[in-house]
Amino acid sequence: MGFIASYVIFHSLNTINDVRLSNLFLGLSLTVSLGGLAAGIIGWVRWLMPAHETVQDRHALAASDEDLEIATQVIMAGLEETGIARRSLLKRTLGLALGLFALPAVLLLRDLGPLPRKTLATTLWGPNTLLFNEAGFPVKLGDLEIGSFTTVLPTKPDDPRMTEEELGKAAVLLIRLEPGTNKPAPGRENWAFQDHVAYSKICTHLGCPIQLYQKQAHKLLCPCHQSTFEVPNACKVVFGPAGRPLPQLPITVNANGEFVATAGFDRPVGPSYWERG
Ligand code: FES
Repeated sequence: MGFIASYVIFHSLNTINDVRLSNLFLGLSLTVSLGGLAAGIIGWVRWLMPAHETVQDRHALAASDEDLEIATQVIMAGLEETGIARRSLLKRTLGLALGLFALPAVLLLRDLGPLPRKTLATTLWGPNTLLFNEAGFPVKLGDLEIGSFTTVLPTKPDDPRMTEEELGKAAVLLIRLEPGTNKPAPGRENWAFQDHVAYSKICTHLGCPIQLYQKQAHKLLCPCHQSTFEVPNACKVVFGPAGRPLPQLPITVNANGEFVATAGFDRPVGPSYWERG
């Protein structure tokens, strides 16, 4: 009950001190309640159960029917001695104390937050979205040298829509391949622009941001568990635990020479999840 009270009282977590206070009281209340339960069990064993020494001689591993019968009798007698069968107050108190421990678990599950619904499948990318670099400027044709790459976002970094959740989904790598290297997947023939391709920066294994590009081999490497994606081949996985290629963002260049997306991602970015289908 103390855990639940602490959860309700310290629910606004706006500063690091709020978080510290909340953790302190949640931890203390859980410690006191578990300690109380332990003390109750110790007290029960020490003062309510009969204390006498028992010696059990070694015997063959397989028990005879006679031994099984004796063992059953000993267990039943032990059960009788604990008093759990007779002392209904003890039984109910223990049941209630253990039952109450289910309630903090409910609160912890609730704290996982609302169901994500469609938010995992959508990002801020859409038709005509400019590709902004991390300094907040639209990336233009000619900004990237052959064999180089940059991280791009669908808004300026200080745009209020760019929350941490959106940033965690929307980061994209714009890569300029050597001329003629790209082999577009069927149906994606116009998703690249003059050897520039754009792929989600979020690893499809567990969602780490991909940071390494092997220029000679044209491969993207995830630093977390070394998943490797072959860029000219629709970023298909060639090594590591990732189960899917990196989603591709279709891009073109507008009249001002700035890169724009022609649509959003056609599939969810990041790790797989169970509702993904
Ligand atoms: S998160 Fe990228 S390989 Fe595991």
